Amino acid sequence: MADMDGFKEASAYGFDQPQRNEAFFLKGNENRGWGVKNRLARIFNPKSGHTVMLACDHGFIMGPTSGLERVDLTINPLIEYADCLMCTRGILRSVIPPTMSKPVCLRSDGGTTILTDLNLNRVYDVEDVVRVNASAMAVMVACGDRASEQITTQNLVHTVDMGEKLGAPRCNPELFSLGIPVLGVTAVGKDMARDARYFGLATRVCAENGAAFVKTYYVDEGFEKVVAQCPVPIVIAGGKKLPEDKALELAYKAIQAGAAGVDMGRNVFQSAKPLAMMKAIAGVVHQGLTPQDAFQLYNDEK
Ligand code: R5P
Repeated sequence: MADMDGFKEASAYGFDQPQRNEAFFLKGNENRGWGVKNRLARIFNPKSGHTVMLACDHGFIMGPTSGLERVDLTINPLIEYADCLMCTRGILRSVIPPTMSKPVCLRSDGGTTILTDLNLNRVYDVEDVVRVNASAMAVMVACGDRASEQITTQNLVHTVDMGEKLGAPRCNPELFSLGIPVLGVTAVGKDMARDARYFGLATRVCAENGAAFVKTYYVDEGFEKVVAQCPVPIVIAGGKKLPEDKALELAYKAIQAGAAGVDMGRNVFQSAKPLAMMKAIAGVVHQGLTPQDAFQLYNDEK
């Protein structure tokens, strides 16, 4: 029995203030469960509505890519400047300190490499995703690729289902849904057109199959249409290494066209000054810096 000596009567009922029901800040995610929303709100900054995800999952298909030979030396010092870390479970367990507090978007499929046929992947068990406390699962979808379209789309469907899997089916399902959102990652085969029509289709397929957010590539022509037709937020990959000012311009144009952030790898960890680049990209994504101002910031931080 709690000690009732000096019990203070409850009185702050706020009768003049109705309890607020706030709309969730990320498009297309209002009707998801509390856990999904909370995880997304760790990945996306609720103030800006945007995110800077630091991608370092390249090794699972490419091996020791330039800049990722020693993830402990190159990526770990950058983590505190990112909103989210995107990596594989192998790197997470072997190199990333479990004391870090940033959300993890876990690469959740694997199976093939650049040496053979890309994307013939299978997905991780959701139990392992829970074990490493990931905030989202990233799965590749290869629309238009005859060899892997079906398997990768099924992978996404399966992963979304696992993210909603019930821990205790005989109880109230809502209480026990795992609530882990899925990032659909649009793969682009060598023979596919990299245009707004293709990326519009690919991002929409990911969203239609349940992805809570989608990663794709920026294109100069019609990217605003890609964003508008996708009912959930879009983040852009950086792609191959560009000069720093060009990479900042790419991020700026994507944000101006409605992207909700970046999931960037090589343009950060292959930069001459990765930490300065992280800060400059965050300036573009969260503060709306122009490419010129962001490049100035990069040079000041070098
Ligand atoms: C690609 O499948 C990987 O998931 C990368 O995370 C993604 O392409 C982003 O990295 P980058 O900015 O280097 O393209």
